[in-house]
Amino acid sequence: MTSELVLIKEDGTRIDGRRPDEMRPAHMEAGVLENAEGSAFVQMGKTKIYAAIFGPREAHPRHLAQPHRAIIQCRYHMASFSVTERKSPGMTRREHELSKVIKEALESVVFLEEYPRSVIDVFVEVIQADAGTRTAGLTAASLALADAGIPMADLCAGVAVGKVAGTLVLDLSEDEDKHCEADLPVAMAPSLNSIVLLQLNGRLTKDELKAGLQLAKKGTDLLYDLQKKALQKRFASYGEVPE
Ligand code: CDP
Repeated sequence: MTSELVLIKEDGTRIDGRRPDEMRPAHMEAGVLENAEGSAFVQMGKTKIYAAIFGPREAHPRHLAQPHRAIIQCRYHMASFSVTERKSPGMTRREHELSKVIKEALESVVFLEEYPRSVIDVFVEVIQADAGTRTAGLTAASLALADAGIPMADLCAGVAVGKVAGTLVLDLSEDEDKHCEADLPVAMAPSLNSIVLLQLNGRLTKDELKAGLQLAKKGTDLLYDLQKKALQKRFASYGEVPE
């Protein structure tokens, strides 16, 4: 006999006990890696990600250089041990796609024109994956850019909304991601109130899309507060006068 997975229980809660509009516990830190110019760690539930920034430095090979602005090179990568079924260590098609969407989101907030002919390298390393890695990866990358002191119009904070058993839910876990009817990763530049990443896998009605975006906004505002707190903690001692 096969028992069907109950994603939304009778009392309206989810498989892990959360309410539909409830995020997983999130934790963030900035300045976590010695060898990078900027770095960050972001955890959302069981998803754990490090981001590291190198540069800005002169772009090589030279033909990549843009005369009036910097370019961002982004590598999103999942460790082989980050998922239940061992992943090949090389870059998959999915990782190339996610590197591209994270890079494009960052390009919309970083003041690239401050660094002509330069390159900024962004590394996003997924250590443990339980869904939402592209959005948590972008959240970590923008925190790491701020840690590196790179001027930006805003931070980027992202979360995935999904439609699970007919209900819109915030911050999908992998169990939900695997069985959802739609998966809507959204990232915002919260104080600019603009969307910097938006993808949709599956189908949503117009009204569901609107409601999904509102739900995502609630999540990204919360993540934005955590990003600011992580930066305040990181730079708290800078204002202190030594005795
Ligand atoms: O991680 P994100 O939700 O942004 O992207 P996805 O392609 O929708 O992947 C959802 C989840 O599937 C990942 O976060 C992993 O937990 C899992 N996954 C996996 O187990 N093995 C892979 N090779 C790729 C993804």
